[in-house]
Formats: sequence, structure tokens, C-alpha cells
Amino acid sequence: MDKGGWNALAAWRDRRMGERGDLWHRAIIDPTLLSVLGQVRGLRILDLGCGNGYLTRRWARLGAAESVGVDASTASLRFARRRERNHPSGARFLHGNAARLPEFEDGRFDRVVAHMSLMDIEDGAGAIREAGRVLAPQGRFVFSISHPCFDIDVRSVWVVERHLNESTVSRKVTGYRKERTVRIPWDISGKRTAYTLAYHRPLSVYLRYLRESGFAVIRMEEPSPRREAIRKSPQGPFMVEIPLHLIVEAVHRPLPVRSAPSRVSSPASRTTGRTPGAVARRSGSRGRKRGSDSRRRGSTPGS
Ligand SMILES: C[S@@+](CC[C@H](N)C(=O)[O-])C[C@H]1O[C@@H](n2cnc3c(N)ncnc32)[C@H](O)[C@@H]1O
Repeated sequence: MDKGGWNALAAWRDRRMGERGDLWHRAIIDPTLLSVLGQVRGLRILDLGCGNGYLTRRWARLGAAESVGVDASTASLRFARRRERNHPSGARFLHGNAARLPEFEDGRFDRVVAHMSLMDIEDGAGAIREAGRVLAPQGRFVFSISHPCFDIDVRSVWVVERHLNESTVSRKVTGYRKERTVRIPWDISGKRTAYTLAYHRPLSVYLRYLRESGFAVIRMEEPSPRREAIRKSPQGPFMVEIPLHLIVEAVHRPLPVRSAPSRVSSPASRTTGRTPGAVARRSGSRGRKRGSDSRRRGSTPGS
């Protein structure tokens, strides 16, 4: 089922992610994602495309009523389960396709999270639909993706222009509107290159899928790098200006907006009717050589 090619990266990723995430997760994406997600104690959480499950396990340790990770890569799940065996947290891991989750009944979860996985899931519409189906009314779907406006696989590059002591950083993007499948090269051993599949979708496409699945977006964040990332990643200082990641929080089947009850108080309130109330560098995210910087996946040395 691992059509995306993630089995070949599983051991390498597990080493890098460990229990805390690699540099890019730890010092760029995760702090914002975790703050958007908020308290997890007592919640039932589904982690779509969980990889080695370090976050699934974290939520179980933080007192989630249930924390389940699903991934299409059997090799990634082996690492997740091995970690769980060695240091039990109470998390569970299932092999499956995020776009088809027959093992879960409707309304089963309070939160669905897809952390840096939605752009790697072929059937993005299906995954969002399933997230909606398995969420209880008012449940939240929180996901992070490579920023569809600024980090479009090999079609986005940093442009750094220097004039005396001044430098201007911009991001050159081509082919934004075109949905497409891309093969991402990963130099995982210094000698060997593995490939995964990723799926670029313009922002409006994500928004359409969300709306069609009964979601309303209530928050968007574009994480800034922390000091550690600015220091250790060559792209860190650039990301202070231009974000390479996007985090979205959407609520499922939001309550209809009701107008406030009219007050039969003073004549004044009745009459007003108010209610209370020049050096272009190819970079970015994907397909880096080891030792150079990486996208979200961060192959920065020392990460
Ligand atoms: C970049 S990794 C992110 C893993 C993890 N969330 C993290 O942040 O470390 C993307 C993951 O999505 C998984 N994936 C891709 N397509 C999937 C699908 N259709 N269903 C479930 N998981 C999928 C891959 O196997 C891979 O583990």
C-alpha cells in the first residue's frame, strides 16, 4: 500500500525524528502545531500519516483518552510500534489509508491531526472527507503542510540579492496553480537516493475540500523558525521572512451562527438594533542532498 515510497525512508526518518522530532519539526513546525492543538488531556485523537509516531505517543503520555496513529507505510509503523513496546505510552498504531478508514465509526474522535502528511497523501479530498466523518460534531481537524504558496517542490527557490551590506530575500515560485504529482529525491545515506511522491495543491483546493467536507477554517498559522533553527539551518534566517509551512485548524459541522436574542430592555437599544456582542538558490523543502539544507524534512547537519 506504500505507493508513496515511505518504506524506504522509514529507518532513516526514525533515527532523525526520535521522540522529539528533527530540527525542522522541533524548532519550526511543532511548537505552532502543538499550540494550535492545545490541551489534549481527555481527548480522543487520530494522527493521520503518523510516521514513527513520536507525536501520537506524546499525546498519549499527555493524557489523551485515546491516541491512535494511522500510516500507509508498514515500515514506519514497525518503528512506531517498536518504540511503543520499548517505552509504552498507551498509543496505538494501525496500518491504513487516510482516505479510507473503515475501522473507525462516524464521530469517533475529538481531534484529527495530519502533521506534514496531507501533501503526501494522494487522495487529499478523501483524507479530508474521512477526517470529517470520524470527527464528532464540533471536532477539530488540525493539519500542517508545506506552504502551498511558497514551498512548491522543485518549482520554488530562494532568491537572495545583495547590495553592499543589504540583502533582500524573496521566494520565486512557478506553476502554483497546477496540481501535480512530484517525485521528491532524498539522499538518505550519502550514496543512496530514495524517492517519495508528493502532491501539490493550491490553497483554494484545500479550502474547497474542507468546505465540501463540512469544515470551517477557524485558524491559520505560518510558523516562524525558533532561534535554534535560525542558527542551525541555512534556511532559518530566510524563513523569518517567508514561511515554508502552513498550519490550519478547522472545525467540523460548526454551529450555525445565531443572531443574538433581541433584548426587550430600553427603548434606546430597540431603536439602535445593536446586539452585544541576484543569487538564485534552489532550495526549499524537498529533495535535499545530505549536508545541505532541507525542507520541512530538514537534512540540516546536527538536526
Ligand atoms: C512526511 S511524513 C510525516 C510523518 C509524521 N506525521 C511526522 O511529522 O513525522 C508523511 C507520512 O504520510 C504517510 N502517508 C502517505 N500517504 C498516506 C496515506 N494515503 N494514508 C496514510 N498515511 C500516508 C507516509 O507513509 C509518511 O509516513
